[in-house]
Amino acid sequence: MRAAITAVGGYVPEKVLTNKDLEKLVDTSDEWIQSRTGIKERRVMEDGTATSDICVASIEKILKKRSLKAEDIDLIIVATVTPDHVFPATANIVSDKLGAINAWGFDVSAACSGFLYALETGSKFIECGKHKKVIVCGADKMSAIVNYEDRNTCIIFGDGGGAVLLEPSEDENIGIIDSILKSDGSGREFLHQKAGGSMNPPTHETIDAREHFVFQEGKTVFKFAVTNMAQVSRDIMDRNNLTGADVDYLAAHQANLRIIDATAKRMELDQEKVLINIQKYGNTTAGTIPLLLSDFESKFKKGDNIILAAFGGGFTWGAIYLKWAYNS
Ligand code: COA
Repeated sequence: MRAAITAVGGYVPEKVLTNKDLEKLVDTSDEWIQSRTGIKERRVMEDGTATSDICVASIEKILKKRSLKAEDIDLIIVATVTPDHVFPATANIVSDKLGAINAWGFDVSAACSGFLYALETGSKFIECGKHKKVIVCGADKMSAIVNYEDRNTCIIFGDGGGAVLLEPSEDENIGIIDSILKSDGSGREFLHQKAGGSMNPPTHETIDAREHFVFQEGKTVFKFAVTNMAQVSRDIMDRNNLTGADVDYLAAHQANLRIIDATAKRMELDQEKVLINIQKYGNTTAGTIPLLLSDFESKFKKGDNIILAAFGGGFTWGAIYLKWAYNS
């Protein structure tokens, strides 16, 4: 039995932070940010809200579209690096806020590849016949861990995310067909949050040293991402005998337009097949792919060949090949 995405929902907060706004905070320019990343603006959440609110808003859209009740959900998986709390899991909070009383759930931590890791995990519960309705969320409130005095990171990240519903596919040729997921923990030093975990618990010193924010060595991450996201996307095509002409859409992690372009080139894809919304939201970490699927859902037709691809902190990376399950 295959698992298929049968509905999607996305959410971004109202508040916009433009490149011009960032010019007032750090030594940067709208021109530099746009030409190096493709980002024009990003969204930021209000104080008092959290990642669970992104998930809840996204799932509520799915329930409405499909006339489902929260009680119908069997399992909720949340991919995030900005959980509401260290524990309990954000998935527990999401199910409580929704009233999903029959669901169990857990969080997945794989940074920007989190949604792909969670989608792979969720699909297994459908494939083995254990569950009928699995919700997979990818969401991050990156503004909670971004230092708005660090121009290396604050220009990139934004808040937002989305969710998908996974159900058993009636047609064996439709749904999630193949996946390649990878990790290499030796890359952790190039992209991480230094303090706050069991290695460096919070102290006055860690706060003064600003170790609770995202640290990134941009150039190294860039090189890694360009090589590996392109390679894994090519590998999944070759393994499934797909040419660039066979692929209808690439939904790639939105971290940098130049990285997405390099991946599309390696896949020999025409530009109109490459889904892009980075200009509006920046990098929402685990949120980018469900947010893309939600923004472009109306374009997809039943049977379309879609490749999802991501890379992120860890390092983690991967690609998933699916055949879209419905006409919107
Ligand atoms: N505004 C203006 N100048 C900036 C800047 C900013 N926000 N950030 C860096 N610079 C400067 C640097 O100081 C450097 O100046 P120098 O040449 O005088 O030393 C110059 O611009 C080039 O910096 P560099 O870091 O080489 O730029 P880059 O082309 O690699 O772009 C990133 C920086 C962060 C946009 C890019 O490395 C990137 O996208 N990396 C991957 C990020 C990513 O995907 N992260 C998420 C992983 S999931």
